[in-house]
Amino acid sequence: MTIRAIVRGVGHYLPDRIVLNSEFEASLDTTDAWIKARSGIERRHFAATGQTTSDLATRAAKEALSDAGMDGSDIDAIVLATSTADLTFPSAATMVQHNIGNNTGYAFDIQAVCAGFVFALSNANALILSGQAKRVLVIGAETFSKIMDWTDRGTCVLFGDGAGALVLEATNSADNPNDRGILATDLNSDGTYGDLLYVDGGVSTQNTGMLRMQGKEVFRHAVEKLASTATTALEKAGLSHEDVDWVVPHQANIRIIQSTAKKLGVPMERVVVTVQDHGNTSAASIPLALSVGKQRNQIKCGDLIVTEAIGGGLAWGAVVLRW
Ligand code: UT7
Repeated sequence: MTIRAIVRGVGHYLPDRIVLNSEFEASLDTTDAWIKARSGIERRHFAATGQTTSDLATRAAKEALSDAGMDGSDIDAIVLATSTADLTFPSAATMVQHNIGNNTGYAFDIQAVCAGFVFALSNANALILSGQAKRVLVIGAETFSKIMDWTDRGTCVLFGDGAGALVLEATNSADNPNDRGILATDLNSDGTYGDLLYVDGGVSTQNTGMLRMQGKEVFRHAVEKLASTATTALEKAGLSHEDVDWVVPHQANIRIIQSTAKKLGVPMERVVVTVQDHGNTSAASIPLALSVGKQRNQIKCGDLIVTEAIGGGLAWGAVVLRW
């Protein structure tokens, strides 16, 4: 017998305001056709003025708890992946902890940009396997609209705001790959590539900063590194691409999603795609896609899922789990 972290609940939240590609045509030298053709994005949600990352995260967390049939007080740990926390400190995770009525567990943020949810899921799994927590709320939440340079057509048309959450619970398992739960994780980073995708400000530079990206270079790394980390995670689980029911990728660009699926040998009919509706929501994109995938009746209990993501750092990774 061994311990497995299994998914008990999932939920998401998207801010009310939907922004179509055509809205950018008034202020930028861009078109709906270019954005759709080069990224697959058709619309994205933007948080309202004053609406913060912890607000979005709390809404997603409450939905995931309700799906799990649990209360905030049932949770031992909250791990929140974000690069756009409300304040420098305390963590957005402790704000969510307060909002869901939990004061017995512990909460902290993880910052691995667009790969943040994969890092959070892997660390939450480690907390469960090491006996440090039995029930963990894992959240990805972002308000990237707050760090956009609205004069840079190469970035500001790509990102959106949102949040998604999972509830994980420790369960006894016979360590069979057909049993539910997280089966393997693979995490990587390489600071050599820090200048490809970054925010040009922060606390110790005393300036909030805005997102900067060398899109073409990030694209090149993404296709290669995403296929490789997903394959490694599958190998660690003793599985192959033929066992995969759903790839749930980071939603940055439909062309990256398609190229990675092709490299993995998984047809697009087995890939959950939400990029057209959400844009790139960084650490929120995978839990959003998991939640939407379940709502659409794509993801079902027992399905083998591979999630993969890459972002600033560069940081990248994958998680293999049986839903
Ligand atoms: O989540 C973290 C990971 N991030 C990513 O994965 C993003 C990775 N990169 C990408 O998704 C793509 O590189 C982009 C969507 C950002 C750009 O697509 P691309 O096909 O690589 O275009 P490009 O950067 O090579 O630009 C092609 C042309 C350029 O014009 P010239 O130099 O050929 O005259 C750009 O200036 O398109 C121009 N361009 C635009 N044109 C209209 C760039 N942005 C726009 C725009 N509208 N919004």
